[in-house]
Formats: sequence, C-alpha cells, structure tokens
Amino acid sequence: MNYKIAELEHKIAIALKSLGYDEEVTICPSNRPDLGDYQYNGIMPIAKKNGLNPQTLAQDLVNLIKDEPELKDVNIAGPGFINLKFSDEFLLDFMNASNENLNINYNQDINKTIFLDYGGPNVAKVLHVGHLRSANIGEALKRLCEKVGCKTISDVHLGDWGRPMGMVILEIKTRYPDLAYFKEDYHGEKVNFTLTNEDLLELYPIATTKAKEDPNIMEEARKINYELQNKHPGYYALWQKIVEVSVNEVKRLYQDLNVNFTLWEGESDNFYYIDEMLDYLYSKNMIIESDGAKIIPVKEDADTKEMPPLILIKSNGAVSYEATDLAAIWERTHKFSLDEIWYLTDKRQELHFTQVFRVAQKSNMVDPNLKLIFNGFGTMNGPDGKPFKTRDGGVMPLSELLDNVTIECEKRLLPTITENRAKIARTIAVAAIKYADLLPFRTTDYNFDIDKFTDLNGKTGTYLLYSTIRMRSLLNKSMTKFNKMDVISTDIERQIIVTMLDLKRIIKRSYENYSLNEICEYLYKITNLYNNFYAENKVLTEEDNIKKNSWLTLTKIIYDNNVELLNILGINIPEKM
Ligand code: ARG
Repeated sequence: MNYKIAELEHKIAIALKSLGYDEEVTICPSNRPDLGDYQYNGIMPIAKKNGLNPQTLAQDLVNLIKDEPELKDVNIAGPGFINLKFSDEFLLDFMNASNENLNINYNQDINKTIFLDYGGPNVAKVLHVGHLRSANIGEALKRLCEKVGCKTISDVHLGDWGRPMGMVILEIKTRYPDLAYFKEDYHGEKVNFTLTNEDLLELYPIATTKAKEDPNIMEEARKINYELQNKHPGYYALWQKIVEVSVNEVKRLYQDLNVNFTLWEGESDNFYYIDEMLDYLYSKNMIIESDGAKIIPVKEDADTKEMPPLILIKSNGAVSYEATDLAAIWERTHKFSLDEIWYLTDKRQELHFTQVFRVAQKSNMVDPNLKLIFNGFGTMNGPDGKPFKTRDGGVMPLSELLDNVTIECEKRLLPTITENRAKIARTIAVAAIKYADLLPFRTTDYNFDIDKFTDLNGKTGTYLLYSTIRMRSLLNKSMTKFNKMDVISTDIERQIIVTMLDLKRIIKRSYENYSLNEICEYLYKITNLYNNFYAENKVLTEEDNIKKNSWLTLTKIIYDNNVELLNILGINIPEKM
C-alpha cells in the first residue's frame, strides 16, 4: 500500500485499538466519490463479531480520527461505512512526493529472484499467434516483477530438440544428398549452404507429414535424431544452422515486440541434464516400468480430475516433453538460487505442468521453498470466436498479423505524417496488439478485432499513445519552470490524484494475480480523467502562475506515470502520431 495511505490506515488501527478492537485496517477507493475519496468498510464485521451496533462504533471511531491532518471530512453512510475525504495538504504532499520519486508508487520491496519461462517458440516452425500471448504476458510480468523489487532471469525456452529435428534434417538430406554435412569425412568445416527461414517454413510441414505417412521415413528420421543427439558432426552442424536461421527470425519479431530474454536456452540445453536427473529419480525409487515406458504416478487423494502418471521415457525410447521440463528444472535450480519459477503457456498445458511440478516436489529434486507457478493464459481467437486463421484457413503467422495491423495503423492513423511513417506505424501497431492482449484477465479468451484494437477513441493502445504524446507536447510547449503542486483548483484534479493514490494497490494486485488487466484498466482510467481535465482547462494560457505550475506538475506526473506503466506493458511511445 502507498506509504501515505498506510500511515492513515495505521492511525485508524490505533484509534480502533483504543476502543478495544485490535484489527488490521485497509481502506480503499470509494465507489461513491460524491461522498468521499476513500472508504473504510471494516466497521460492520467488527460490530458483528462483538455484538455491537455498527453505527455507534462507526461514530466512536469517527470522533477519534476526524481531526487527523490527512482528512478534510469524515462521514458515516448506510449501516456503518466510513467515508473519508482527504485534505488538500495530504493530496498535494503525496503528489509532490511522487514528483520527486515516482517509484514510491511501485516498489513493494519484494526481494525475490524469479525465473520466468516464456516465449517458447519452436525451431523451424512458424511463430504463430499462440506464441504472441506468451511473449507479451511473460515480458510484461517480468517488467512488473522488477518494478516491485524482484530480480528476474528470463528464458525463451526454445523448442529446438526432438524427432521433428531429425525429420527436417532428413528432408534436407533427401533434397541435397551431396551437401558436405552428409559426407562420412565431415568434421565441422564451414559449408556453403543457403538456408532461409522461408525455406524452413516450407520444409517443416512436408518433412513431418512424410514421416507420419511412411514408417520407413519415420525410422530414418529417428536414426538421424539419435545421431544428432550424440553429436554426429554433420547433423549437429546442420542443426546448429537451422537453429540459427530460426532464432534470427524470432529475434527480429521479438525485437519489434520489445521482448527480451536473459537466456536463449532451449530443450537441447536441458537434454544434457536428463541422465543426471533420471539417475536422481532412480535413486529415489520413483520410476516404474509400464508397457515399455518409464513412468511416475502423480495422483493425489484430493484430485477431482483425472491425473494420469507422468511419462518420462516413452515406450519407443523417446524422451518426453515432461522429461525435458524436469531436466530444465534440474538445470535451473542447480545453476541459480531461485525463489520462484513462472511458466507462461496456453492454459491447455496445465496438466503437463501439474505432473512436472509434482514429480519435482515429491522427489525433493527442488528445495521445498521453491515455488513452481503455472500461469496459463486464454486463446486469442478470430473475430468469429473460433481459433485465429489466415484468409486461406491456415494458422496465422505472427509476422503476418503484425504486418496487417501495421498497414491498418498507417492507413488510419497517420494521414499527415511523412517522416518515419513505417517505423511509427509499427510502434503503434505493437501498442494496439499488446494492449488488447493484456487487457483481458490472463486466463480469458478474447477475439481479435483490428478495427476495435486500433480505434483512437476506445479502450485501446492507440488512444493511450495519442493521449500520452499530447501530454508530452503540452509539457514541451510550456516555457515556465515548474516543480511543485501548490493548489488543487478543480474537482477533476482531485479525482486524478485520488486515482494516482490507488496505483500502489493496483500494482500489488497485478503482481499477485500474475495478470496485467488491472494495469491496463488503470491506464485507461487515469488517461481518461486527465483528458477530461485537459478539455476543461487551458493549462498553457492560465494566468494565475500558482495554478499553472500546479497543472503543469500534475501533467508531468501523469505523463511520467503513463510512460512507466506503458513500459511495464512493453509498449514504446512513438515520437509523434
Ligand atoms: N515450445 C512449446 C510450445 O510451443 C512451449 C514451451 C513452454 N515452456 C516449457 N518450459 N515447456 O508449445
């Protein structure tokens, strides 16, 4: 809670204690701003617990707190709600403290080290819209963690290992049998072979379909994969090339999306920990043989849903997705001292992670204090509410989606801008997509709607950018020096400040819910209030200097705060629009 609010809560708690009730006190923004700025709803439960008349108790409390300097007015409503109206001194004091250090509204001194696993693109496969949410939400949560005081380590966790890699290599081998990679005497020399991301996107579906349809091809791909995993020089060098081409494309898209990682590791890195991890699980006598597979039961008495055993090694000898994730936990917890690991994937992977976490915990592979947290998210659907498709019915590649929205933004929003059009349009498009993606609660599905997302007058990224840029240009135009708020002259300013007071609580709840939706709503709310203030008052031509400086300071705080919040969401602000 904001330290100023916390001080007031403390005073109320002391007053209650003097009346004989030892209670924790929290106050919250009022849902009747006409009656008060904040309210305290704790009287009724205390009265009930102690068999008292709530109104009498409320009145006793009001008598004790009404003269506190933070408060201008205190009144009782209904059965015992206490409405608190703040004094101007209190509000101004808070704004001036925010002006000096905006961080008082963010930092919660949560000193944890959090490892975030998000992104999860697959090598040689198209990066599709499903990967968009993981990258957006993961990146924003990482930034939020840092804002509240945590250290973070982020890992893109590439899907770069497993049989599909054998299939892709086999397809290349079939097409270009004379490539140096496939020669007996190949030992890592540089090979003159051009491979593009487009080539890979064309190859991958063909390679996997062929293998699925023909058992001989599947067997051949399995062999290649086995040799790859044993670092066959040619296959390994070709695989490295495939990874490089894919990763370059992924990095290009992530750069546009402002998504960054500490680590660019993948399933291939975890692979080298699998043996160690398996030995450990064997030593704990946890692995059971079943129909040729190696499994670990994870069912618990309290389960209400079906909980199949975790399959470590499949009956055909292949290492499972579950085993790679256990090896990843093994690697991460051996390399870093972590308090929590967060996973960001589609909510349909929940069972997978439940199984993995249970094995990690039951086997004591991880410290009992380590928290493993699965943050599933809902799906982005097409405008028809069905999974998002391209015009010809295929999965929508992320690059295509970004390009479509960029074109739309350029057409609709930049009629007069000539310089840097493409770059500005891209920045706006990313804002539109990200904001729309982060606005619903994390687990909620939503429909993609290009007109709605790029609307300048809605709850959109474009509205927020436009308004924030307007604040900036107002500040740039002001010739006066200002650094303080000395007066509150209008009711709307009061509403803005009271909303600002609530930020710390919003940040805390967003962190606790692993969701950015409240931050998105908050940004819209405060921007909207500011725009109302802007429409009603002529800041630059105001003649009363005290008023004018206060307004400019207010504008600066709201501007800086918008920049800060947009930055948490991973949204950049263009130079103009
Ligand atoms: N590559 C996976 C996919 O596309 C996502 C990886 C998620 N992270 C993890 N540690 N399993 O579905």
